[in-house]
Amino acid sequence: MFFGAIQLGLMAACIVLFVPMGMAGWHLSRNKVLFCSGALFISLAVCIHLIPYFPSFFPQTPSAVSFNQDLTTNSCISIVNDVNFHSNFDGFSWNWDNSSRSLGINDCDFQKLGRVDVSDLLNGSWVVVAGDSQARLFVVSLLDLVLVSDEMENIHEDLFKRHSDYHIVVEEIGLKLDFIWSPYVNNLTDLVINFKLNNTYPDVLVMGSGLWHMLHFTNYSDYGASLQVLKESVVQLLPVFNTDGEDVGPDPGRALHMFWLGMPTLINRLLNTEEKQVKMTREMCSAYDQELYKSKLLKQNGGSFFLLDVKMLSNRCGVDCSLDGMHYNEVVYEASVHVMLNALIIESHQKL
Ligand SMILES: *[C@@H]1O[C@H](CO)[C@@H](O)[C@H](O)[C@H]1NC(C)=O
Ligand SMILES: *[C@@H]1O[C@H](CO)[C@@H](O)[C@H](O)[C@H]1NC(C)=O
Ligand SMILES: *[C@@H]1O[C@H](CO)[C@@H](O)[C@H](O)[C@H]1NC(C)=O
Ligand SMILES: *[C@@H]1O[C@H](CO)[C@@H](O)[C@H](O)[C@H]1NC(C)=O
Ligand SMILES: *[C@@H]1O[C@H](CO)[C@@H](O)[C@H](O)[C@H]1NC(C)=O
Repeated sequence: MFFGAIQLGLMAACIVLFVPMGMAGWHLSRNKVLFCSGALFISLAVCIHLIPYFPSFFPQTPSAVSFNQDLTTNSCISIVNDVNFHSNFDGFSWNWDNSSRSLGINDCDFQKLGRVDVSDLLNGSWVVVAGDSQARLFVVSLLDLVLVSDEMENIHEDLFKRHSDYHIVVEEIGLKLDFIWSPYVNNLTDLVINFKLNNTYPDVLVMGSGLWHMLHFTNYSDYGASLQVLKESVVQLLPVFNTDGEDVGPDPGRALHMFWLGMPTLINRLLNTEEKQVKMTREMCSAYDQELYKSKLLKQNGGSFFLLDVKMLSNRCGVDCSLDGMHYNEVVYEASVHVMLNALIIESHQKL
């Protein structure tokens, strides 16, 4: 709109200036030239002042601008997982893929957030992460961003107690973080039901599960069935929030942001037991993935969870980046945390 007005203004100024000069060139009397330029000036001025009342005649209307913004938001969120990894002499590094795209990373302005940014973003929030060891590694990366290193050393032992929950409140920013050990999807469902029973909801909920089921049940249709039950419990939860995850309950403006922590790419020959190598095959992995898409839990399939695409991230980091064919170098979890934080900024329309 603004741009259009400036162009129109310039055009009008040119007409007002050059038409009378042209007429003067045609040997009209000075009075006629003055009259013509005056008449032109007045009619153009009237036109320009009328434009705002008839915006539909002009292409650059405000609604078109906000439509473009929505388009950018949607496109940005769809490429936020698009991260590349590089190995160098002192380990791995990562960054968003900025090559060969019409909508580049620069347009989306993704950023690796520092401690201060994360503190601002998560100030006063309750974050719940539930899942298996992948989710625990995700929590480690998130805390690495929020805490300073000696604080991190102090909590390391508690955080890594096998198969246990972990709870921390980071006082300075009022961040409450819960890790809930949930190896199976039905553990996630129980958690969601408890939120509903307690009528307390986190601001950010990160969930993911599948590896344990694959190893101990090796039955993708059963996994799919458990995802269905989870989906139903999430749908039960959502009436408290509107479809955008925005709370329409007692505390308006609060939102529930949900993320699905995807399974990593498994590297079969590196898996550390024979049982794992036999059961956790490439075919079984893709059957489990199919069940996730069929369950419609993910936003991309019409559900509520935004996918943190650990499968793609770990695959891109590559074989050298994995310790045991299942757990990856911390750089993968660090990247997934930043993907989540950037998606969170886009979703909540926050600008840092
Ligand atoms: C993409 O990023 C790399 C490093 O992150 C940088 O060296 C390169 O110049 C960037 N390319 C473009 C087109 O921005
Ligand atoms: C967090 O929010 C509180 C109140 O909203 C504010 O006083 C405090 O400075 C904030 N802390 C940070 C680290 O942003
Ligand atoms: C998770 O679910 C399994 C299977 O139903 C159950 O045996 C286990 O106790 C649950 N674990 C937790 C931590 O709730
Ligand atoms: C529900 O409330 C109980 C009792 O206050 C608490 O122990 C439990 O952790 C809560 N569960 C959830 C999922 O908020
Ligand atoms: C897999 O799970 C489904 C659904 O729970 C069940 O009907 C089926 O018998 C199971 N298959 C095997 C081989 O255990």
